[in-house]
Amino acid sequence: MITELVDTLKREKRLDASGYRSLLECCNADEISYLHSSAQETAIGRFGHRIYIRGLIEITNICRNDCLYCGIRKSNRNISRYWLSTDEVLARCSFGFERGFRTFVLQGGEMPDDADSYIEDLCRRIRAGFPDCAITLSLGERREESYRRFFEAGATRYLLRHETHNVSHYSRLHPAEMSLDKRLHCLETLKSTGYQTGTGIMVGSPYQTMDNIVEDIVYIGRLQPEMIGLGPFIPHKDTVFSGWYSEHQPSANAEGMDNYSGRTDLYDRRIDLTMKLISIFRLMFPDALIPSTTALATISADGREKGILAGANVLMPNLSPENIRGDYSLYDGKASSGAESAEGLDALKTRIERIGYHIVTDKGDYNRK
Ligand code: 5AD
Repeated sequence: MITELVDTLKREKRLDASGYRSLLECCNADEISYLHSSAQETAIGRFGHRIYIRGLIEITNICRNDCLYCGIRKSNRNISRYWLSTDEVLARCSFGFERGFRTFVLQGGEMPDDADSYIEDLCRRIRAGFPDCAITLSLGERREESYRRFFEAGATRYLLRHETHNVSHYSRLHPAEMSLDKRLHCLETLKSTGYQTGTGIMVGSPYQTMDNIVEDIVYIGRLQPEMIGLGPFIPHKDTVFSGWYSEHQPSANAEGMDNYSGRTDLYDRRIDLTMKLISIFRLMFPDALIPSTTALATISADGREKGILAGANVLMPNLSPENIRGDYSLYDGKASSGAESAEGLDALKTRIERIGYHIVTDKGDYNRK
């Protein structure tokens, strides 16, 4: 049954909602491994054993939003706020370029609108200084005109996770001023501006249900993004969800039903579900760029390898200046050194070679075969 679903997904690139649900709920080890190996085969058929690397430069932790789960939310007073000067970013690009990086991902909190000229200038200068490199932005919701300016200045890819496609789930993770509609509208705008567009979700986030994840898959199936980022939710000590793991054990209410007003059981299955989702999206989108994320590597010693073996084909080592990495803390324990960093690229290469893959330095633009 599950193996048939996997074969159908591979052949037709889609299932109905109940099919996705069955794959996510499957607990049979052989069937799960069939899902992963089918996805891995698909990735190898498309990319060989090649893994693209992207240098992640965290340009600022200043953010106007107050997302309940995120360590750089504006109400967190326990971190010092920074932004990198254009020269500091360019210096990191040079460092990365020498080590083989040909894509720079500029990620940061949502800066005020008047930071647009800084971002635009940054794109222009990277484009001029590193003409054979790709620029990816991950800077949140911006105005349509801003997305266009950055595109004209040389950025060609944009990452903006929708986080959840369910309105009520979205509203439990975000303050009232933020809306799912706006997020989805931004994604449409990015696509129509011409960006290779990435979206994605956190897996095991507070209040998330299996139905929510199925909705996310169906939405992503419609959006047809070029990139898909999936990482386990990890609590951050300075957020509302800091004690999520310990304080919200599911308990039975008066009707004997599980009480899901608190933590759901998906939290415990974050790793397993993240891997299944990587595989499902690889089968849906053979050409997509799917990273094995830092969050996965943070909560599992071999998380990076697990992601690749489930069908991921991208890694994003940290290329930020070392002194600010601690302040870009989206969640507790975020890995940013060793094999997770540009300095540790040799260690990363060795680890990836151990599972039969190798790192390549091409730009790795999205290409439909
Ligand atoms: N755990 C895991 N991922 C997180 N992000 C933000 N906070 C957390 C957290 N606590 C992710 C969001 C965002 C991306 C940049 O980081 O999905 O889109």
